Amino acid sequence: MKVVVTGGCGFLGTNACLYFKDKGDDVVAYDNLSKHEFSRNPYMKPEAREYNKTVLERKGVKVAVEDIRDRKTLMQYCKGADYIIHTAAQPAMTIAIEDPLLDFTTNTEGTFNVLEAARKNDSCIVTCSSIHTYGPEKINSSLVEEDTRYSREPVTIDEDEDLLCGVITPLHASKRCGEIYTQSYVDSYGLKAGCFRLTGIYGPYQFGGEDHGWVANFSIRNIIGLPITIFGNGKQLRDILFSSDVCSAFDAFYNSHTQGIFTIGGGEECMISLLECIDHIFKITSRKTDVIYTEERFGDLRYFASDYRKFNRETGWKPKVTPPEGISKLINWIKENESLFIKTV
Ligand SMILES: NC(=O)c1ccc[n+]([C@@H]2O[C@H](COP(=O)([O-])OP(=O)(O)OC[C@H]3O[C@@H](n4cnc5c(N)ncnc54)[C@H](O)[C@@H]3O)[C@@H](O)[C@H]2O)c1
Repeated sequence: MKVVVTGGCGFLGTNACLYFKDKGDDVVAYDNLSKHEFSRNPYMKPEAREYNKTVLERKGVKVAVEDIRDRKTLMQYCKGADYIIHTAAQPAMTIAIEDPLLDFTTNTEGTFNVLEAARKNDSCIVTCSSIHTYGPEKINSSLVEEDTRYSREPVTIDEDEDLLCGVITPLHASKRCGEIYTQSYVDSYGLKAGCFRLTGIYGPYQFGGEDHGWVANFSIRNIIGLPITIFGNGKQLRDILFSSDVCSAFDAFYNSHTQGIFTIGGGEECMISLLECIDHIFKITSRKTDVIYTEERFGDLRYFASDYRKFNRETGWKPKVTPPEGISKLINWIKENESLFIKTV
């Protein structure tokens, strides 16, 4: 089948392209290579920007360096697509606050364009949202502070939890718009569309920013000898999900008859706080890194653990990779590609 992956040269997009290419599909990675985390990370060599693209081309994936905001070009590349996996995004809260127009045009208008491409081609489509759409206030006010993490009852959170609670940023708005548009294409056109409300995800091909991709950010900093910055007390918790598990969720969605919005994460078995993650990285690499504590960021969610039972019921999908396994795999990938990073040790 023909699979188009928007944001195909990003972290999740690259993993998705390789997953479907390995299954024998014709895969197109559609990406403008803006890779927003590059503007923030001091450790990336310029050639790292093209790295995922080069890997994909070597594997036979067709790479289109194009923009999802260019509807005409997007339509051309999506012609005849059986499956569109929409991962292209402006994913960071900090950038959304600084540049709301970029955030809106990429996340809201861009998602609308991709849905239109799916509608015109009658393609199955998955769009990617974020657990940030829940908003910080209700969840943050339900937490108990323990030694190394926040906790709460009930432990996991599902699709019925209230949304956009408390102070919200343009990222909350644009991601929620993407969810609503996806649902509207299901309801109004019967499109085989799903929206994955994703928890923190991690894995190879991730270059990790401080507010987007923190497992990779911490791991890379530890390996190249840069200090790690924590915003808040480090007890923030996520049910982190490894990239191969997200790819199998894309696959499970395509092969199911379900539609709509799904909370997708690692669940209880994959819960880890920032402090616990750092400790774990130090143990794997046998190297310690300075940790700098600074103020908690506006709009940050202190806790999220997914109740993914709705998606599991509809598709049978379950995450397989535990944090110890996944973090080791990520660290191996970083070590194999150390030449992409500016080393300080
Ligand atoms: N990484 C996470 O922890 C996480 C958590 C929750 C949700 N998500 C969501 O999952 C999706 C994928 O995230 P990711 O971590 O792979 O992000 P990423 O930043 O690694 O990849 C996004 C890709 O989209 C491309 N892109 C940006 N604007 C574009 C445009 N206008 N046209 C074409 N391409 C464009 C970028 O160049 C980049 O390669 C996003 O929607 C993100 O919000 C990610």
